[in-house]
Amino acid sequence: MVNIEWNDSLETGVEIIDDQHKEIFSRVDTLVNLSEEKKKKEIEKMLRFLGGYVVEHFSAEEEYMIDFNYPEYDFHKEEHMQFLKSYKVLMKEYKKKGATPAMINDTQNKVISWLYDHIMRTDKNLAAFLKSRA
Ligand SMILES: [Fe+2]
Repeated sequence: MVNIEWNDSLETGVEIIDDQHKEIFSRVDTLVNLSEEKKKKEIEKMLRFLGGYVVEHFSAEEEYMIDFNYPEYDFHKEEHMQFLKSYKVLMKEYKKKGATPAMINDTQNKVISWLYDHIMRTDKNLAAFLKSRA
């Protein structure tokens, strides 16, 4: 299992973005630490959270990119789209088979690894650019 604790190395330095990331981390962390039985009950809530809050968070970042004429907008947006694609696959799996252990594991692992990867590279680049323009 991948670790999902927030730590300072994940900070981008743009407060609004960091606050939203922290919220996502804390929600995923809560899920990861539940018993298998409770996870089954909470996974739907998690999926709804991802489809709601995370999508809103993407929009917030994308608005910044547009407002500040960010040169890597297409690349960054594409990563968001890739996440949404994975999300749709997970949602489909959930609707088809319900909260199976494999599906729960898949959701946790995909969300966690995507988040780390995306924050550490893509969001940090964006934040550095935004700070240089502030
Ligand atoms: Fe992003």
